[in-house]
This record gives sequence, structure tokens and C-alpha cells, in this order.
Amino acid sequence: MAEQYRLSAMIPEDKVREVAERLSIVEVVSDYVQLRRAGANYTGLCPFHAEKTPSFNVNPAREIFHCFGCGAGGNAFSFIMRIEGISFPEAVKLMARKAGIEIEERQLSHAEKQAQDERQAFQRINELTTGYYRSILEQKPEGAIARDYLEKRAATGEVAEAYRLGFAPDRSDGLVQHLRSNGINLESALKLGVVRKSERGWYDQFRNRLMFPIRDTKGNVIAFAGRVLDASLPKYINSPESPLYHKSSVLFGMDMALPTIRTENSVIIVEGYFDHLALYRAGIRNVVATCGTALTATHTSLIKRHAAKVYMLFDSDAAGRKATVRSMELFMEQRLPAYVISLPSGEDPDSFLAGNPVESFRTCLEKARPAFDFYVRSLLAQTPPDSVDSKVRIIDELLPRFKKIADPIERDLYEKEICRLLGITVHAFRKRMGGMELTSRDAGGDQGQADQRNDPTQETLLALICSYPEARAEVARSGIDSLFEGDYLELAQLVLDTLANNDDDQALSHLLESIEAPGARVLLSRMLVSEARMADVNWRTALEDCIRAIEKKALRSIKNLTAQLRTADPDSSEHTSLLHEINALRTRKSKL
Ligand code: UTP
Ligand code: MN
Repeated sequence: MAEQYRLSAMIPEDKVREVAERLSIVEVVSDYVQLRRAGANYTGLCPFHAEKTPSFNVNPAREIFHCFGCGAGGNAFSFIMRIEGISFPEAVKLMARKAGIEIEERQLSHAEKQAQDERQAFQRINELTTGYYRSILEQKPEGAIARDYLEKRAATGEVAEAYRLGFAPDRSDGLVQHLRSNGINLESALKLGVVRKSERGWYDQFRNRLMFPIRDTKGNVIAFAGRVLDASLPKYINSPESPLYHKSSVLFGMDMALPTIRTENSVIIVEGYFDHLALYRAGIRNVVATCGTALTATHTSLIKRHAAKVYMLFDSDAAGRKATVRSMELFMEQRLPAYVISLPSGEDPDSFLAGNPVESFRTCLEKARPAFDFYVRSLLAQTPPDSVDSKVRIIDELLPRFKKIADPIERDLYEKEICRLLGITVHAFRKRMGGMELTSRDAGGDQGQADQRNDPTQETLLALICSYPEARAEVARSGIDSLFEGDYLELAQLVLDTLANNDDDQALSHLLESIEAPGARVLLSRMLVSEARMADVNWRTALEDCIRAIEKKALRSIKNLTAQLRTADPDSSEHTSLLHEINALRTRKSKL
């Protein structure tokens, strides 16, 4: 059974199946997307990316969807999970309600029960802690100093309430006592890092600090950040990693931002809690902040799940520029369009909005530059291209990132722009890049979307092995790695394995739900919605055509590479890798 079904710890499997049988995917999707019949499929405007012509397809026979524009795909459950931003069990429950199926949750195992109890205990500790800090800030005499501070920073009333701001008083065991009097086991509180233990007993982790609760996407408090009220250091103390809190996967303010992220389809990322707060106060709500850590791939994929576009708003100093470039690379790998907002130098969102109306901020937002454009320009500002030497250095710095530009048109435009700015020819640029055409697989990492890497030959081959057992046998005999490569190879192997055990029509739809590799997943969902075309062909002729096409392509590449080899410096690593590549191609070709 597919991964997701097994993961549904609390819902019995037969219920999941019952829900799936009761609701057709067309019904489910139709609540969100206006669908029209088009041959065997239904099509509509993709809800997961902005588009004007429909590339979103639903295949009712296979009960799956796929978007040819952004590569999103899966079954009815994955559709609901993605569009509602919820987990698998939640999606099943939501659909069960719609289908009028009642779900009693299965009895938990002992271990599951324990884990659930512990989680609830943690949640309760965080709630009590938040409430404690909040009450000090709002009502207690010792909170006066923090009330004054927040007054000055215009973070009172509804704003303070929205963030559930609090104050940790300058006392060694205020929280300890509060938790104790509520019957909390302090060992659990220790695991969350809100209290500590020494030989002399228990004491509070946070003292004399303004407290920002850090929440998960559902609004549960999972950690805290405490800021000093003066200029002392460290400015912030944050909760340590804990069973609830993994800072590399949490974005501060996500829960507050989600509704607006959905309507705007974009996210603004800032660095600081107070930057977040300043934008919130100004009514700009699609904002998240990193919790004092560099952006990670987990962060960017979280963002990608909810938005089609991201704006980075980091400090304009050297550290901020570095963070911007590093984050840009992550977004390029995710193929998520990224822009950079620049504020006047020395300003952060907080200071900017203190001195300017929100319209001025919106103007900066409209003027946000594509991240790569920003990167090229700041690189040139740092290293003026005024000598051969500096130009070479700039190009070498640029190239690895340039290669990550997935969109061919964008890449072409940037290439021209870079060459113009540096006063070099495109020919020279490409030469430096060496074999760029052949390494275009670099683009987009493995998150790739369907359109760029569409290889018609491998596509046809794949469809053939899905539909025709004879074609499978034939392909298995000649060795799949001489016919497929990259994600296609990975998928072809999975298809052969899957269909070897179970040759029914649903096997591939189930496979789609369990594939982890994003590239192969996109390929499969695309193929499953379009495969109808492969019905009634002569599999043998089609297969032979494909093999001939692959042979031809290999020959062409060998020719290309050989030409490059001639101009390459025999001592360079480029030369060696060209040789390797040529040999590999020759071997592959000989196997055909
Ligand atoms: P800032 O120093 O810009 O903080 O650091 P800020 O929140 O904008 O506060 P103000 O406006 O100066 O009062 C940006 C972010 O870096 C992390 C925090 O997440 C902070 O919001 N940080 C900073 C830490 O985690 N620890 C520190 O000691 C400093
Ligand atoms: Mn700041």
C-alpha cells in the first residue's frame, strides 16, 4: 500500500479506501477549479500557480491530476492536502465529511498514546508559559518597564495581542513556580528549554526579556525568542531545538501570514521579529521571518507549498547581501521566482515604516528586482569590471549560479545582459562556461518542473513500458540504463518493479503516491494524465523509433563533445571530464 496510506496512523485504512471510492477526483477538484471536459481528461486553470491558459489536467479514469505548467500532481488526497495546506489524515477527514462518511479513529498503540500524551503536555507547558509572560506584560508592576518599551516601539494593543507578546520578569524562578503550581512536570519543561536545572534547583531560562512566542503554521506555540530591553548582549535568546522546535524548518509568523499568502500568492521574507511586526502593523501580512538562522531548503520548500513568488527583504549590509545570494540559490533550485526588495540604505522595514507611509513601502515592493538581476548588479558594484583580471573573477563567481537559471529565455537574457555589462562577447562567455549545453541538467536541481526537461523520446519509451508488457520485456532485455537517463531512468526502474508485481491499472496511480523523488514524480503524474495517446500504437515500431532517436542523439553529442575536446586545454579538468563523457556515451550507444 502506498506510503501515505501507511502514514495515516489514526485513520483505519478501509475508511481511507471508502472515502476514495465515494468521491471522484473530478468532484473533489471541482470545488476549487472550474473544470471542462477535454477528451479523456478535464482541464482548468491551475490553482497552484498563476496562469491564463489551462494546463491543469484531471484524469478521471486514473483518479489523478497533473499540471503541465508547474508539475503539481497526485490523487484527490494530495490535491486537498496541497490546496488546503493540511496533512493526510486531515485531508481524509475533510473529504469524509464531504462524502458523509463517519470516521471513528482507531485505538492508539501504547507508544502512539505516549507520544500523543507527551505532545499534549508540551503544548500545555508552552501555553502556560505564554500566558504567564503575557500576564506579566499586561498587568503586573514588574511589566511596566516592558510596557514602556513597547509603547516606544508602537507594539501595544492589538499588535501585541496578535503576537501574544509577553515579558519575562527579572526573577530567577517566576516561571518555575507558575508551572509547578499548575502541576507541570519540570523535566518536560526542561526538554522545551523554558526552564533549567542546577545543583541549587530549578530556574527560569528567560529573564528580563521581551518575549516573542514562536508558533507553528497552525498557531501552536513551539518556542520563544526573548529580546533585551536595552543595548546589552546577546540581543536575543532563543529556545533551543526541542521535540517541538526545529529552527531550520520554522518560519516565524507563518500562521499569521497564511491567509494573505493565499490571496497574494507571494511571501515576503524578512530577518527580524521587529521587521515582521512593523509590516504587520502597517497591514502588510504575507510576511515571514527566519528565526535568527540562515534560510534552509526546508524553509524554501515550505514557502513553495504556499506561494508562487517570494520577495526577500534582508539588511542592505554585507551580511544581508550574502544571505540574499545564498537564499537566491535555494529558490533557484526550487524554481520559485525570487525578488529582492531594496529599501534606502541603512533602513530596515521597522525604521522605514516609522518614517514613511505604507504606500512608499508598496512602491519599493513594486520595484523589487529579480534576485539574479540584483545579484549581478551587487557583484559588479563590489568588483568593478575594469580589468581583464576582474572580469574573469566576476565571471567565475557568476557562472555556477548562472547555470542554475532554469528558464531558457531568462538565461538567454541574462547572458546578453552580463556580456553587455562586462563588455565581452557571448562566445567568450560560453567558452569560459565550457560545455554549458551539456550540463544544462544543472538547472533547477532535482525539483524540476515538467516543461524544461521534457524529452519526447524518453517520454514515449516510458509510456510504452507502462502500457505494453512486451515493451517492458524488450526494454528490460536491452538494459534500461542504455535507454533512459536522469529522472526518466529512476522512474523507468520504479515502473518496471511496480508492474512486475502487479499489473493492474491502479498500480501506477498508487506508485505516484509513494514516489519520493520529486523529478520522477512529476514525470509520472504528467505521463499518467497524457498516456491515453499511447493506446493502440504498434509498440514494436514505436520502440524501434525511439531507439533510433537515442542513437542519433548520442552520435550528435559525441560529435559536439569531440569538437570541444579539440579546443580544451589537455591538462585541464575540463578535458578529462569531456573524455569521460565521450566514453560513457560511446558505451551506451554500443549497447543499443
Ligand atoms: P536584529 O538585530 O535586526 O533584530 O536581528 P530585530 O528583531 O530587528 O530587532 P530590533 O529592531 O533591532 O530591535 C534580526 C534577527 O536576527 C535574530 C532574531 O531573529 C532577530 O529578529 N537574532 C538577532 C538572534 O537570533 N539573536 C541575536 O542576538 C540577534
Ligand atoms: Mn532589525
